[in-house]
Amino acid sequence: MADIKVRAAAAAEAAARAEPRRAGLEVPFHRASLGEEELAEVAASVKSGWITMGPKTMEFEKRFKSYLCARGGLPEDKLHGAVVSSATAALHLALKAVGLRPGDEVILPTNTFVATAQVVTYFGAIPVLCDIEEDTHNMSVVALEKLFTKKTKVVIPVHFAGQPCDMDEIMAAARKRGVVVIEDAAHALPSEYKGRVIGTVGDITCFSFYATKTLAMGEGGMVVTGNEEYAKSARINRSHGISRDAWDRYTLKGSWYYEVVDNGYKYNTTDINAGIGLAQLRRLDAMNEARARIAAVYDHALAGSSARLPVVRADRKTCRHLYVIKVSNRDELHEKLKQEGIGTSVHFIPVHKQPYYRDTYGFRDASYPTANRVYEQSLSLPIFPDMAAEQVEHVWRCVLRHAR
Ligand SMILES: Cc1ncc(COP(=O)(O)O)c(C=O)c1O
Repeated sequence: MADIKVRAAAAAEAAARAEPRRAGLEVPFHRASLGEEELAEVAASVKSGWITMGPKTMEFEKRFKSYLCARGGLPEDKLHGAVVSSATAALHLALKAVGLRPGDEVILPTNTFVATAQVVTYFGAIPVLCDIEEDTHNMSVVALEKLFTKKTKVVIPVHFAGQPCDMDEIMAAARKRGVVVIEDAAHALPSEYKGRVIGTVGDITCFSFYATKTLAMGEGGMVVTGNEEYAKSARINRSHGISRDAWDRYTLKGSWYYEVVDNGYKYNTTDINAGIGLAQLRRLDAMNEARARIAAVYDHALAGSSARLPVVRADRKTCRHLYVIKVSNRDELHEKLKQEGIGTSVHFIPVHKQPYYRDTYGFRDASYPTANRVYEQSLSLPIFPDMAAEQVEHVWRCVLRHAR
């Protein structure tokens, strides 16, 4: 195995030296895979005369649950959900469903998009940031164990880049203390933990269908849970706390009468977005395979180089939402790749470094040594389903040339 890796890297390095970049070859950091199927769905919504939440949204909600149940070997009546306008909305609704109160503490990794922390603050609750593992960049269970207090109400593991966190350990630590686990699965569609598809593991799971995600609807998200009461709360509160799905009050079969039973939000998605989502869902496995192929090429071509590659644990599967390498010259590499026409990104600026969180909650760098180190070295390479083979090759050749 080691021998194959060494030979692959040697061959790749020789090729990199032999063939300078072809002028004009550009690789954006991301491009959503959208085509005729998505266009047809949007056209159908427009022609129907109904463009906000309606039949396509309901169909997406049903098919998305079926997709997870089929993968997870779960009966369809065991999984409940609500499609909403974003993962941020999904996380907000999930925290509302479990009854988060002012002063409650919610533990989440510092290596996440700030939305995971921001929803906690909406309740006057306290975000408690957890350091991460050096290899997976996921929440460290060792660090987590030290953060529980009597005020801890929720833990939010974030499946970074698509790789599931140590869910057995996290669930056990939470269960022991009566704490709820809400997974931020914005990156993890479809990913698996010990044979279980993400969406069927924790108490509630929140997905994102944002434009760059593995299933892109533009803006969209989903709350998924085995708990019927949590799902009911999310469904009611995505539409102003109205006691039933209110969209059909404009149809002949619906009634104009409704009751408001909670102080909910306007967090519905639309039939335009859900139509795109339906087409994306049909193509999800094929798009996932394309990303897996690109990751395998990167793994092979960059093995033995000075870039440290993503580590995937043997007992889990990642959808490869992101491909994050670590190098000692991250900023320089970003610049060099830019000059070569390649877009890259950094995931994430840790939450504890953001001025609002530093100043409001007193987070200090010294508490997050691993996250700081990982942040300084990380660079996310382009990985999207429609990347041409020559674009993939251009990226790894340039990384071989410039990474230190
Ligand atoms: C880890 C993580 N959580 C939550 C979100 C928020 O997702 P959305 O844009 O759907 O609200 C993102 C989006 O990038 C994310 O990366």
